[in-house]
This record gives sequence, C-alpha cells and structure tokens, in this order.
Amino acid sequence: MSYIPREYWLKHGRTYKDDFRYNKLFELQERVLIDYMKQNSTSFSSVLEIGCGFGRITKLLLTNFAGISEYHAIDISPEQIQNARQLIEKEVFKNGLNLDFAVGDITSLQVQKKYDLVIAAEVLMHILPEEIRDVMHKLVKSSNKHVLNIDWYEEQRSKKAASHNFIHPYEIIYREFSEVKHISRVPISKKGSWLRSIDTKQSLFHAIVNN
Ligand SMILES: C[S@@+](CC[C@H](N)C(=O)[O-])C[C@H]1O[C@@H](n2cnc3c(N)ncnc32)[C@H](O)[C@@H]1O
Repeated sequence: MSYIPREYWLKHGRTYKDDFRYNKLFELQERVLIDYMKQNSTSFSSVLEIGCGFGRITKLLLTNFAGISEYHAIDISPEQIQNARQLIEKEVFKNGLNLDFAVGDITSLQVQKKYDLVIAAEVLMHILPEEIRDVMHKLVKSSNKHVLNIDWYEEQRSKKAASHNFIHPYEIIYREFSEVKHISRVPISKKGSWLRSIDTKQSLFHAIVNN
C-alpha cells in the first residue's frame, strides 16, 4: 500500500491515543532520553517539539526539566494536538510557562525563530526519503543549541519495513549541515540476561548546533 504521509497521519491521528499501549520499550526509551539529557547537562529553557502526538514527550520533558519557560509543540494532526492540550492541561507546571500547541506540518513549516532544544520523537522515521534532508535542515535551523531525534535505526535495513517507516542515515545527513558542530548516537537498548535484555531498535541522535 502506498504511503501518503498527510493522509496517513490525519487518519491515524484520530485513533492514535486510544490505540497507544505503553510498554517496556517506551519505558526504556523515555528513561534513556531523560538520563542522557541530565548526564550531558543539556541546558535549555525553550523547546520546539515536532510531531508531539498526544503529548507523551511533552509531558515527560515538562515534568523532568523545571527550567523550561517556553514550549511550543506542533503536529500535523488536529486531533493529536487536541489530545496533547488536554493531557498537559491536567498537569500543573510552573507559573508563566509559555506553552503553545499548534497544528503544523514540518515539511511546510517556515522557520521563524530559534529554540534551545528542538526535539522530534518517532517522527523523522515517517518522513519520506526525498524530504528528509530538508526537514532535518529545518530542525537544525530552528535550534540555537540542541537537536534531538529518536528514531528506528539499524545498520542492516530490515526486509519487512511497513511502508510508513524508514531508516534514514541521520548522522550522515546532520554532518552535511555546516551549523552542526557535533553529532552523537545512543542506541536505546538494555543489556542483561537474555530474558532481561531489551533492544528497541531505536537510537537517540543528538546534534549540537551553532547558529
Ligand atoms: C509515531 S507518532 C509519535 C508521537 C510522539 N512524538 C510520541 O513519541 O509519542 C508520529 C507523530 O508525528 C506526527 N507527524 C507525522 N508527520 C508529520 C509532519 N510532517 N509534521 C508534523 N507532524 C507530523 C504524527 O501526526 C504523529 O503524531
């Protein structure tokens, strides 16, 4: 079946939240993200989140980083934006937090300002190969410090990828941009006995930019 991103995400945005099942893979993904950001003293106060979905990562970051004073989140799906608003409205965050949710498509978004952190979790893997460079450059140009993306990544391409999932060469693409000064990749996996080890087949990519 051919994948038409806009159609796909507008349709799936209607049921995404109800279909979502939190599991040990998401638990590990969130732990690795927060531990990494804390250990690497990723200091930031303004955040742009792309493809926020129902606000899972939005809530995670706002809960863990009290220094955030501005948080703007976009998603292509109006229903996802509504769900994210409702999820965050239930929480109490610091007074004066500039929080904004908006329907927006990263492929057509105009870069208007810069944020300390630009983050996209499980979003770039759904961008078409012919659009990924432009989209990643937009993320880089929207940041004055950090760009983080979490996406499916394997050296060997899986033969059975669904039509809406891509493995993009994130590190190679980041290095093409002169604004990127450093790039690192952290595999999201946990080693243990075979019963306890977890491999999400995802990685966290961190680009440090100087705009
Ligand atoms: C797999 S979900 C991840 C949601 C959220 N980031 C999370 O980790 O829970 C992908 C999200 O990206 C959004 N999305 C897909 N393409 C997009 C685009 N071009 N611009 C903005 N959002 C997009 C979808 O609507 C969906 O909410």
